[in-house]
Amino acid sequence: MTKLYERDQAAIANLQKLRFFPLAVTGGRGARLTEENGRELVDLSGAWGAASLGYGHPALVEAISRAAANPAGASVLSAANRPATELAEKLLAAFPGAGDNKVWFGHSGSDANEAVFRAVTKATGRSGVIAFVGAYHGCTTGSMAFSGHSVQAGAAKADGLLLLPYPDPYRPYREDPTGGAILAELRQRLEAAPEQFAAAFIEPIQSDGGVIVPPAGFFKAFAEICREYGVLVVCDEVKVGLGRSGRQHCFEHEDFVPDILTIGKGLGGGLPLSAAIGPARILDCASAFAMQTLHGNPISAAAGLTVLETIEREELAREADRKGKLLRDGLAVLAERYQLIGDIRGRGLACGVELVLDRQTRAPARAEAAKLIYRAYELGLVLYYVGMNANVLEMTPPLTIPDAEIHQALDVLEQAFAEVLTVPDTAIAQFAGW
Ligand SMILES: Cc1ncc(COP(=O)(O)O)c(C=O)c1O
Repeated sequence: MTKLYERDQAAIANLQKLRFFPLAVTGGRGARLTEENGRELVDLSGAWGAASLGYGHPALVEAISRAAANPAGASVLSAANRPATELAEKLLAAFPGAGDNKVWFGHSGSDANEAVFRAVTKATGRSGVIAFVGAYHGCTTGSMAFSGHSVQAGAAKADGLLLLPYPDPYRPYREDPTGGAILAELRQRLEAAPEQFAAAFIEPIQSDGGVIVPPAGFFKAFAEICREYGVLVVCDEVKVGLGRSGRQHCFEHEDFVPDILTIGKGLGGGLPLSAAIGPARILDCASAFAMQTLHGNPISAAAGLTVLETIEREELAREADRKGKLLRDGLAVLAERYQLIGDIRGRGLACGVELVLDRQTRAPARAEAAKLIYRAYELGLVLYYVGMNANVLEMTPPLTIPDAEIHQALDVLEQAFAEVLTVPDTAIAQFAGW
């Protein structure tokens, strides 16, 4: 444990920590992080997907420096500012929705989803929302109220929340890998209360629930049922949007267009920035109803513009598709050797590896996941686990990660799989993870 980690332990509250090993960072370059002692690690998490362009991307450094040297105010609340307006225009141009859309800016995925929840219920006069078991939409009171992740089991839930099982082809609900049983349940609930639900929050890949890729056609059918009953479909792409899945928007894989899209994390490339894009009749339904002073600040907005431009210029969506295949091909080779690997899945550079004690029973290998990432950290690789059973390795590296570092990450993982049993229980005991 480095000195920096000890100082962090003494000074920073546990309320905002989700720690898996004593990583203490002093700098970063590309897809690498540097620790206090000078050790470099490959970041296969990309700060949970926020470091979309990696660390210290020259275009981002230049854009942030320029915006900070001559900032167009500090907010969008009481004045238009150029970077926020330009970013909104760019987001609208890239969203294939109906046409009269607007953009709302926030700092985080949590506040974007919460603002949308507030707006859809107010604008429609309907109080209920639909979401999925395993969904993580954020960590503010409002966004927790319609999340379905087990780590938030103690949080107060919204009145009229309907949580449906997420379609998981590896662990199918009612043994139906198509998700048909879930669609039937949705229809039944909507028929019983046709005017109750304002919106359904979906994730086109359920990220923190276990990087679960839904069966083909599920969300297209889901959205059609919602439309029959006037239920807005809100697509939360906070983790998997903006090129990460191999397409600009992850919903493009599912052949439907949501009414409202939320994005965050990688949008700011490391600066706090999120957005919701949706119909004016929803996002204009009231003024001063979902605002914070620094929302739409020009420095974050300038970073967002540069992230979008760089994704286009460097063709990072296409690259994410190619690199994701490279990563999953390498993982498939590991799966031939290590029985612990039960399933490999994902799209582009949103990749999940589910660990199981037994491939037949698919019993979750929870402790092994914690030990595996701990050993990987010791060997120079950063990645975390997610999932309702805390047994899915999540890989969301910078979209700019060089191929060589993907190979390096695979080499480290190979060694970590071989040595996972050498990690004592005591090593992980102090890290709660989730
Ligand atoms: C799908 C999804 N939505 C929302 C959030 C919350 O985002 P933030 O932590 O930026 O508030 C997350 C964070 O992991 C997420 O994965």
